[in-house]
Amino acid sequence: MTELSGKTIVLGVCGGIAAYKAAELARLLIKAGACVHVVMTANGARFVTPMTFQALTGNPVWLDPWDERRANNMSHIELTRSADALLIAPATANMLAKLAHGMADDLLSTLALARDCPLLVAPAMNKQMWSNPATQRNVAQLKADGISVIGPDTGVQACGEVGEGRMSEPEAIREALIAFLQPKPLAGKTVLMTAGPTYEPIDPVRGITNISSGKMGYALARALAMAGARVDLVSGPVALPTPFGVTRVDVQTAREMHLAVMQRVAAADVFIGVAAVADYRPVEVANDKIKKTDVGLSVALTRNPDILAEVASLPAAPFCVGFAAESQRLDEYAVNKLRSKRLKLVVGNLVQDGMGGDTNQVVLFDDAGAHPLPRASKTEVAAGIVAHLVQMLG
Ligand code: C5P
Repeated sequence: MTELSGKTIVLGVCGGIAAYKAAELARLLIKAGACVHVVMTANGARFVTPMTFQALTGNPVWLDPWDERRANNMSHIELTRSADALLIAPATANMLAKLAHGMADDLLSTLALARDCPLLVAPAMNKQMWSNPATQRNVAQLKADGISVIGPDTGVQACGEVGEGRMSEPEAIREALIAFLQPKPLAGKTVLMTAGPTYEPIDPVRGITNISSGKMGYALARALAMAGARVDLVSGPVALPTPFGVTRVDVQTAREMHLAVMQRVAAADVFIGVAAVADYRPVEVANDKIKKTDVGLSVALTRNPDILAEVASLPAAPFCVGFAAESQRLDEYAVNKLRSKRLKLVVGNLVQDGMGGDTNQVVLFDDAGAHPLPRASKTEVAAGIVAHLVQMLG
């Protein structure tokens, strides 16, 4: 993933136990392509040494406004001049209070006051400190000032108490930062999607399903949300976390997926069927486990609804996109699907090229012809599909 390539991020680290997670955050930002400069408060440096961040980022770490490494003593101004964002994680209650009131009594708070780039903060503190009216007032002020507040999460705290105030996980902070820095060509659009397999029970312990990890659909949902769309993701059973900014509805069977889609389709500008929907389901589902016998077992199957075809034939159909995972003759089958289901776009791939893995090679089929995308990570393929979609939506 290189979504932060060419971006410079100043990472501010304050004095809270979550400072240890800032080391992982720095690593994730660098892995995403960013150049990271770390500024610590004196208390931050009591939790994690500056050397840790220097080793991770390959850049000097800054603490002191009087640092003589800067010949002109202007580190409080210079550090953010070339930055795309100042991200303070963890941001303590004290730092939030200083930011809300424009106080500048150390390098980090001075940098924040003198910055000419966006500021994002990820608060981290004990639940009482977080719920204190003073902190809540400060957070409201920061939001009113246009500062992005990421989290905090609810859960077990370092002090042993349970409540709201934990710093968001480093992955979630990285996702929020990437989303913040992305252009928003799909702002105002609502996208309804399906992803993952469906599971059609035969009895309480057996069922019919399709092979689908859900990775391509989830990567696409994430890319759409990053591009500013409101994304409703109707998902079959998968072992994946919900992508940043996506609203997820979990279903099991094709009929549940069909119902969830039909309940939401009126609000959708775009519908994308990525799910590997089981085409058939057992006519009857046994209430009890079917006992094994020496003779074979026949299960009568009936057709499931074709969700995509049904959505595409609605009188006020949204812009419909389908997926075609084929084991052969991709062009022919994908173009057939485009025509027969009355779709605007089909994303085709050979199953041997993408199923289950983290990379994929797809070809986009629309009325203008076939547009192959290079083999890439599913994250990058998703970005390519979104770019094509944005172009088609004009
Ligand atoms: O008809 P086929 O399964 O080849 O088409 C695949 C496309 O149709 C995918 O976009 C898939 O999500 C969608 N589909 C659906 N409901 C079905 C079967 C497929 O929405 N019952």
